[in-house]
Amino acid sequence: MIASSLSAERVAPVADPRPSVTFIPADAAGVARIVIDRPDDRVNAIDLRLMQDLAAAIAASRDARPRGLVIASGKADQFVAGADLSLLRGTSQADIEKASRSMQRVLDDLAALPFVTVAAINGPALGGGLEIALACDYRIAADSPNVRVGLTETRLGLIPAAGGTQRLPRLIGLPRALDMILTARQLAPKRALRAGVVDEIVHPAVLLRAATDHAMRDAKRRSKGGATAIERAATNFAPARAFALRQARSRTLAETKGRYPAPLAAIDAVAIGLAKGIAAGLDAEARAFGELAVGETGRSLTALVMLTLRQRKAALEGLGKPRAIANVGVVGLGFMGSGIAQAAASSGLRVRARDRDAAAVAKGLSTIRELTTDAAKKGVFERREAARIVGRVSGGSDLAGFRGADLVIEAVFEEIATKRRVIAELEQVLRPEAVIASNTSALPISEIAREARSPERIVGMHFFSPVHKMPLIEVVRPAGADADAVATAVAAATLLGKTPIVVGDGPGFYTTRVLSTMIGEAFAMLAEGDSIEAIDRAMTSFGWPVGPLQLVDEVGLEVAGHAGETVSKARGLTAPSIVNALVAEGFKGKHKGGGFYRYDGRRRMPNPRVRELLGAPTHPAAGDIAERLTLTFVNEAARCLDEGVLRSPAEGDLGAVLGLGFPPFLGGPFRYADAERQRIVTALERLAASRGDRLAPTESLRSRRPFFSL
Ligand code: NAI
Repeated sequence: MIASSLSAERVAPVADPRPSVTFIPADAAGVARIVIDRPDDRVNAIDLRLMQDLAAAIAASRDARPRGLVIASGKADQFVAGADLSLLRGTSQADIEKASRSMQRVLDDLAALPFVTVAAINGPALGGGLEIALACDYRIAADSPNVRVGLTETRLGLIPAAGGTQRLPRLIGLPRALDMILTARQLAPKRALRAGVVDEIVHPAVLLRAATDHAMRDAKRRSKGGATAIERAATNFAPARAFALRQARSRTLAETKGRYPAPLAAIDAVAIGLAKGIAAGLDAEARAFGELAVGETGRSLTALVMLTLRQRKAALEGLGKPRAIANVGVVGLGFMGSGIAQAAASSGLRVRARDRDAAAVAKGLSTIRELTTDAAKKGVFERREAARIVGRVSGGSDLAGFRGADLVIEAVFEEIATKRRVIAELEQVLRPEAVIASNTSALPISEIAREARSPERIVGMHFFSPVHKMPLIEVVRPAGADADAVATAVAAATLLGKTPIVVGDGPGFYTTRVLSTMIGEAFAMLAEGDSIEAIDRAMTSFGWPVGPLQLVDEVGLEVAGHAGETVSKARGLTAPSIVNALVAEGFKGKHKGGGFYRYDGRRRMPNPRVRELLGAPTHPAAGDIAERLTLTFVNEAARCLDEGVLRSPAEGDLGAVLGLGFPPFLGGPFRYADAERQRIVTALERLAASRGDRLAPTESLRSRRPFFSL
């Protein structure tokens, strides 16, 4: 039942005497209504009060015996966004299990009402929100971009715990239900209709009327286990079901490498329910939920979601006042610039873009159109909205139209001279209060801004690629930056739907610095004798999304090499020469002649030149590859905190997981360090003794003071 509640920041909500749920007796047509409207919350997150009030409203409706019942939200564009995550904090396994059983009982009562029940979904119905709707006979959704339905609990390392693992497969069939639960997918209205999760979509203005009509006309209904014969067989026919479940288990194991227990627990709860009946399934669901919620992975993932939610406010702490942003300029409409422009337009901002010539502008605009059409196809937004998004972007080869910009993001080549020239040109046309943000990956902002007339309004906004998928923006605050300008960049990042972290202006800032340091260590291990494949495989098995050497190939050897050199120089280390040696021979990356691997169509094999260039191994094969590289990362992250590049461990964890794919089940480098501090320090000391001082544990790791108060 727990989902991405947006109210995690409320630690102790002030008791509000108004009820969260109201029962409205039947109208002339005989249809009663239950209205969910938590008085102290924007999104109707389910807390204990809401649960009790819902139980009381259901009981009242049972007593009133209307002809039909509509369950609706009292808030505009919000149905029920899931459970209040603060429910989980500091609670015992037994209590969490009990809460799940209570909510299951409330929804069992709803499902058992002797008259027709209809959910009117006017906004996000996620986690427990969708479980409420699933306990109704019918679900009618508004055809609105605000509507999303999904059981998103596995994203938090949990499983649906208010009957979701039982009712969804019975409604839409086992295969589709497993897909929704295991991927935590959120469906837009049309997709939800196609999947059978909702029965009808209607114009938002007539949602209540349509739901009331259904409640008046329709009969109670029994779910059949899917729309097609094949789906129903996979749900109800034991051998077909066993096959589907076996496949789901093996796919999940391959994807999670056994590091994430929730998806497997969800499959088990679904399986038990379909084999032994809903009571047994609900029991399995509640037990697994309690176990997962107090388990390390569940706690790490939940903590990450809470940090992400809190960051919306926390990111602005200690900064100035953000200025309003309506118009954004983008200079350089290449790979990153077009993604940035598209993200800004998708968030409702008007975008004026500039590249060097008409051809480059046209190419950028066409990328923006493609990105937008793809997103519409995936149901991120409706087609009408897609046309509006594309219509918000215009471009040209000069700075015409930039005068009105509130924020300009430059994403031109990673060359200091080019970036300085762009800034000089911008300063000619921009209003004095406009903020200039550079999307550099590693160049210090103070260097980029050195010749500027007003350097204080220049900050960094480091996006990650691909922009439309990556949820992080690293806002770089150079010394002397105007606090309002930094705040404006942070607010812009949030407006773009991304999570901002604010970091100091060192070489590589935070993310490029920790990543380059870890990659540098991978090069050292290559030289010692570990193989390319062994290094990459060890890291992906450990839970990283891609191995470090494959990553270098994908980013491009010149870009990665440049970042590596910038970061090594700052730490007084010599950058490994292997990258330059490969570049000199024409190995510049995956799409540029190969790199650490050679590419043949979809096949990939290690490049034999790497070993030849490195010469004979310097050490016999070392110990645990993933541990050494991951600890290198953790150590550098801690050093960033010690040096003030990072403001907080929370931002360090968010940056690592959301920007760099640090294994989420560990919660981030700082949470991981808190969980295994002694072992990590000892391992780093051992590594430092055998492989060099660069690996010695940094001060805050040795200090034994936890980064988070747990
Ligand atoms: P890109 O080469 O795809 O795009 C650069 C664009 O800037 C080109 O369209 C080029 O025509 C245009 N341009 C160059 N000089 C210009 C000028 N004076 N005025 C107007 N337009 C000009 O490069 P990409 O990958 O988009 O990178 C851009 C910036 O983003 C770089 O600073 C890079 O370090 C940074 N970055 C790149 C990431 C990546 O994964 N590619 C990730 C994060 C940041």
